[in-house]
Amino acid sequence: MKLFIETLGCAMNERDSEHLIAELEQKEGYVLTDRADEADLILINTCSVREKPERKLFSEIGQYAQIKKPNAKIGICGCTASHMGADIIKKAPSVNFVLGARNISKITQVIHKDKAVEVDLDYDDSLYAFESVRSSGIKALLNISIGCDKSCAYCIVPHTRGKEISIPSDLILNEARKLAQNGIKEILLLGQNVNNYGVRFSSEHKKINFATLLSELSRVEGIERIRFTSPHPLHMDDEFIEEFARNKKVCKSIHMPLQSGSNKILKSMRRGYTKEWFLNRVEKMKSLIPNLCISTDIIVGFPSEEESDFADTLEVLEKVRFDTLYSFIYSRRPHTLADLWGDKWSVPKDIASSRLRTLQARHREILQEKASQEIGRVYEVLIENTFDDGAMRFSEGRSDNNKLIHINDECLKIGDFVDVEIVKNEGGSLFGRVKRG
Ligand code: 5AD
Ligand code: SF4
Repeated sequence: MKLFIETLGCAMNERDSEHLIAELEQKEGYVLTDRADEADLILINTCSVREKPERKLFSEIGQYAQIKKPNAKIGICGCTASHMGADIIKKAPSVNFVLGARNISKITQVIHKDKAVEVDLDYDDSLYAFESVRSSGIKALLNISIGCDKSCAYCIVPHTRGKEISIPSDLILNEARKLAQNGIKEILLLGQNVNNYGVRFSSEHKKINFATLLSELSRVEGIERIRFTSPHPLHMDDEFIEEFARNKKVCKSIHMPLQSGSNKILKSMRRGYTKEWFLNRVEKMKSLIPNLCISTDIIVGFPSEEESDFADTLEVLEKVRFDTLYSFIYSRRPHTLADLWGDKWSVPKDIASSRLRTLQARHREILQEKASQEIGRVYEVLIENTFDDGAMRFSEGRSDNNKLIHINDECLKIGDFVDVEIVKNEGGSLFGRVKRG
């Protein structure tokens, strides 16, 4: 039996797909294929955070239905499954089952029931022991919480992933130890608001916060690097920042989703922090961590955003000089507060597009300015891939602060830690030379 799976959206979804594959391979005997037309089961693990990709889902289902083997099943999993439920089967009768984001532990049941719809938002699989993911390489994803308790006015996620529940720390630590025994050197901790860890457990559990979890994980022998995504700026208290800065195993790159630099917009988005708090947290981190890289998410064109609000966002961009920017035009989503406002304060599409272009253009300039300063810097790089094109052997890896660096060297193997000096920057791609001796 062959399984084809397409994964859209974020790292959470990637992790869910790993779990779906592990359950199906080890309990149901499936093997993965990258060809939908030869699969017996086609899964789409969907994202619903913006409207456009979600709209494309139905044409995609239509395409799979046309090319699939006659008895092959189609299952829709993930966030769109959560919030559309049975409507997916109504709109696309070729779909055999619908499995919502926090119900994926039921995969081995739903594949045997035609037209099953499992989208219970209160379902809790935070204690479920998924079959082990056969990870190759040296990096692994590790869930520390499920769901999201926030109510950001634009965001559908609380409605697709339900309330926030932390996974007990002994389960997380055991998993980390197991990963280390299998040769994993770097873990990426996953949750919707990782630094809110410990607020609610579904079983008796001692109160431990994210800073303590980081500290405990860093004592796992063999795990050399710890990353995490996504933290929330609101929960970046001093204790968290100090542990982040102090702990040598915690990589010095952080995602700080700004969303907007305007206090008026942040308030109507219900983000819970101000521009001043955000900048203050950045300042504190930068003062403790000289090489820190910061990435962010920004939405333009949120209802009632005026030029002056957008100017505030540009001001934060100027001050923080983010290393990576993910930027989006506001997309109206069902089950959100902002959806209830209708078109009352909508920003015209052309204005939103023009703000997005301005933001991205200024960010490109900032990146160019920053890139020129990279030459001569030395980073400790963990080699993640090696390539051999016949004529040449080359490698790539990441610095602690998450820069991808290409290295032309004969002797490197996946898993090596090497000091690399940056020698060239080609349109943002960094090339380095191993420093020996
Ligand atoms: N419209 C546009 N962007 C959105 N995001 C979340 N919801 C929306 C929306 N309705 C963005 C946010 C979030 C990232 C994952 O997606 O910036 O941080
Ligand atoms: Fe991830 Fe959010 Fe998309 Fe769900 S809706 S897959 S949580 S980005």
